[in-house]
Amino acid sequence: MIKKGLSEISQPIEQELDVFEELFKKSIRSKVTLVDLIARYIIRQKGKKIRPLLVLLSAKVAGTINERTYRGAVLVELLHTATLVHDDVVDNADKRRGYWSINAIFKNKIAVLMGDYLLSRGLMIAVEGKDYDFLEVITRTVKRMSEGELLQIRKTRKLDIDEQTYFQIISDKTASLLETCCQIGSLSGSSNSEYHEAMRIFGESIGIAFQIRDDILDYEGSLSTIGKPVGGDIKEKKITLPLIYSLNQVPKNEADKIRKKIKDSSKKENVKDIIEFVRRSNGINYALETAHKYSLKAKEALKILPDSQSKIALEALVDFVIDRKN
Ligand code: IPE
Ligand code: IPE
Ligand code: MG
Ligand code: MG
Repeated sequence: MIKKGLSEISQPIEQELDVFEELFKKSIRSKVTLVDLIARYIIRQKGKKIRPLLVLLSAKVAGTINERTYRGAVLVELLHTATLVHDDVVDNADKRRGYWSINAIFKNKIAVLMGDYLLSRGLMIAVEGKDYDFLEVITRTVKRMSEGELLQIRKTRKLDIDEQTYFQIISDKTASLLETCCQIGSLSGSSNSEYHEAMRIFGESIGIAFQIRDDILDYEGSLSTIGKPVGGDIKEKKITLPLIYSLNQVPKNEADKIRKKIKDSSKKENVKDIIEFVRRSNGINYALETAHKYSLKAKEALKILPDSQSKIALEALVDFVIDRKN
């Protein structure tokens, strides 16, 4: 299989992405100096823009890209940016996209308020466009994302997470938004409800695969490729799929020893030991296989949609997501 990069995948909607980019930039500028300063700082960073890409491709694969599609794409990227700004406060992270995080530069208070600003700008755009169907989907998603993050915090404190809970967390905190992107895209592009449902399942599946890959990168990436420190999850005592699997592979006394190291993860050597342990016990391979399963489910969902360049691009995006290095 020939792997495609994001720029190749974006080819069928290159011009539309440029239109999106302009609208997005405009949407976050503000007359308030501090807000505008941070807005410009955010615009300079290069996110992968996977969510707007999903909105645009979902509209096109199901029908056509129109004004509503663009509003949807701006809405989801605003919401995504808001959650990242908040997430770095929650996770105490000082790097994002290779730059200092907003909380690292401006402190938590300002980061929290800036996140609220971005979220409300997104909702305003949907209200102004009278896209009430988008609002119905997106408000539920905001709720799920908050629930997912809160469940994760509770599990982090107790260090007692199983696979089922892990899937609940990633489905709520991450997959729900990718699901929303595909729903909003197809709602804007077509009135075929079978397509809407297929795209919803596609988005949910690619979303789960996406977060599993993200959790693998915390073990095998490097700061220069992923733009955030490796081992960040362990430092935050976040037990993700590779570690859940590995802990289940060893006798209880050995698992307890690892749990002790997780508790004391401010020590660099403990983080190193845990990463070693996960690699040794096949945790990364297991997570890769699981992500692969979800990628197949995503591709399966696409089958009822008519063949097109956009469909090929969506299939390639699935492969990109489980193989990505950043
Ligand atoms: C990061 O998402 C947050 C997760 C849900 C894992 P992305 O990796 O898509 O973030 P950017 O926009 O490309 O920085
Ligand atoms: C992803 O969570 C962010 C949201 C879904 C809000 P993580 O904390 O796992 O993502 P990164 O690793 O910081 O991007
Ligand atoms: Mg987080
Ligand atoms: Mg984080």
